[in-house]
Amino acid sequence: MSDTIRFTLDDREVEARAGETIWQVAKREGTLIPHLCHKDAPGYRPDGNCRACMVAIEGERVLAASCIREPSEGMVVSSQGARETRARKAVLEMLLADQPERDAAHDRSAHIWQMAEMQGVTESRYPTLDSDRIPLLDDSHVAMRVNLDACIQCNLCVRACREVQVNDVIGMADRGHDAYPVFDFDDPMGESTCVACGECVQACPTGALMEASVVDEAQVGDSADYDSEVDSVCPFCGVG
Ligand code: FES
Repeated sequence: MSDTIRFTLDDREVEARAGETIWQVAKREGTLIPHLCHKDAPGYRPDGNCRACMVAIEGERVLAASCIREPSEGMVVSSQGARETRARKAVLEMLLADQPERDAAHDRSAHIWQMAEMQGVTESRYPTLDSDRIPLLDDSHVAMRVNLDACIQCNLCVRACREVQVNDVIGMADRGHDAYPVFDFDDPMGESTCVACGECVQACPTGALMEASVVDEAQVGDSADYDSEVDSVCPFCGVG
């Protein structure tokens, strides 16, 4: 039995290796599908929770999250059609509705803004929902800042801490729109068992978690390639 799968992606016949998702094949074939809760770096499993990466699959009524969906033999997938593009734009607009304005964003070059630009979204037609997260700013840590007003509950920081670095400091409290990342038992980050490896900062796609020195000096410049391994931001150990 062959361990590759042949399917059609945007009118081209392509091959998927065993275990590859539609998103991964598309990227390999030169099509970057927007993504927020997925980070294409070693150790990050896809979670499929933000729906920024939706594609249409022939014969299926519901759009699929390409970051988590594996193709099957003969499947016909569209990533650039009007329907899936409109849906992805709507998702980005809904998420941007609850973000600080870009001019006032904690990180104006954050991954979420790059994805919005790529999808042609510059503003949101949706209302902002008030957040119950209090306080929105946690500046108790010497190396990192937490800006909960920028959090989109993508869970990447939790996966970064728990699964990539195996530190298990970050979890999510509350549910739905009110969910937010917490450190240990909802301690201030600076009083938690965080070892300042910086993995969560590198994983965060919005600027909800940032390097303190960057925030303090207001020097957020061009982002490095988001989907790549990066050096640690830890000022102490350099382990990352
Ligand atoms: Fe695929 Fe979030 S990037 S669901």
